[in-house]
Amino acid sequence: MSKQNDRALRIYNEVLELDRLHYGLWQPDDELTIDNLKIAQERYESLLIDSIPNGVNSVLDVGCGTGIMSKRLIAEGYDVEGLSPDNNQQKLFTESLDVPFHHCIFEDFQPQKKYDCLIMSESAQYINLEKFFPAVNNALKANGHLIVCDYFVKNDASGILAKSGHNLENFLTRAKSAGFTIVQEKDITADVTKTLDIAKNFADKLFLAADIGTEKIRAKHPHLLRFLQWYFRKKIEKSKEQLALIDSVAFAENKSYNFFVFQSGA
Ligand SMILES: C[S@@+](CC[C@H](N)C(=O)[O-])C[C@H]1O[C@@H](n2cnc3c(N)ncnc32)[C@H](O)[C@@H]1O
Repeated sequence: MSKQNDRALRIYNEVLELDRLHYGLWQPDDELTIDNLKIAQERYESLLIDSIPNGVNSVLDVGCGTGIMSKRLIAEGYDVEGLSPDNNQQKLFTESLDVPFHHCIFEDFQPQKKYDCLIMSESAQYINLEKFFPAVNNALKANGHLIVCDYFVKNDASGILAKSGHNLENFLTRAKSAGFTIVQEKDITADVTKTLDIAKNFADKLFLAADIGTEKIRAKHPHLLRFLQWYFRKKIEKSKEQLALIDSVAFAENKSYNFFVFQSGA
C-alpha cells in the first residue's frame, strides 16, 4: 500500500490539536501538561536541526507529518522537500508550504536528485527494514547524512511493546553493512517517556468518566452490565492490551528511544 490514512496520527492532530507527531524531549522537572508537551516537541526538533552537519543544503524530510519540521528547516535556510504516504498530511503540507512534496512510501520513492541529508523524525519505524538502507543510499549523496530519531525494540523485549519498531541491533548491523558510520548518537529514552505518562493520565480520566457515567446502570441493572461485559470481552481485552503501550516503565524495559546521525560511504 503506497498511500495511507493514518487514524492515530489524525487523532493527535485533529483531536489533541498537536501539530507535531513525535514524543518530544522533556526536562526532568517538567510538569505533565499539554503546554509542556508542545515545548518538549519544539526542543526535540531543535536537537535534530542543531545536529545537521555544516555544509548541508538539501534536506528530505522523510515521513514529514504535518510539515512543522520542514517549516523550521526552511526558516533556517535549507532547501527542503517533504515525503509522506498519508493523504491528510499531503493536504496539510501542500496547503502550508510551497516546496516539493512526494506522496509515497519511502520504499517506493524514485528521487529525481540526491540530497545532502535525510531526516527521519519518528518515521524510520514505519519503513520496511529490508528496503530501508537501499532506499536511503538511492536518495543520499556520497558522504551524505541520515538523521534518525525513533524508538527501537530491545533484544529481550516481549509482549505488545515488542511488536512495533525495528530491533536496534538489526538496524545498526544493516546500517554498517550498507556503509554507514555513526557520527553522533544519544539514548534519549528517559527524556521522552513523559509523553506516555501524559497519555496515561488522559486515558485514566477517560476511564474515570466512563465509570461515573455507568454508575447508575451498574446499580440498577447489574445483569445487563455483566452481559455487556461478556459481549464486549474481546474489545475490553484489546483495550487493556493497548494500555500497555502507554506504560512508560514497560516502554523503557522493552524499547529504547535513540537519536543517530549516520554518514554514508563515498
Ligand atoms: C509518527 S509520524 C512523525 C511525523 C513527523 N516526522 C514528526 O516528527 O512529527 C510518522 C510519519 O511517517 C510517515 N510514514 C509512515 N509510513 C511511511 C513510509 N513507509 N515511508 C515514509 N513515511 C512513512 C507517516 O505518514 C508520518 O508522516
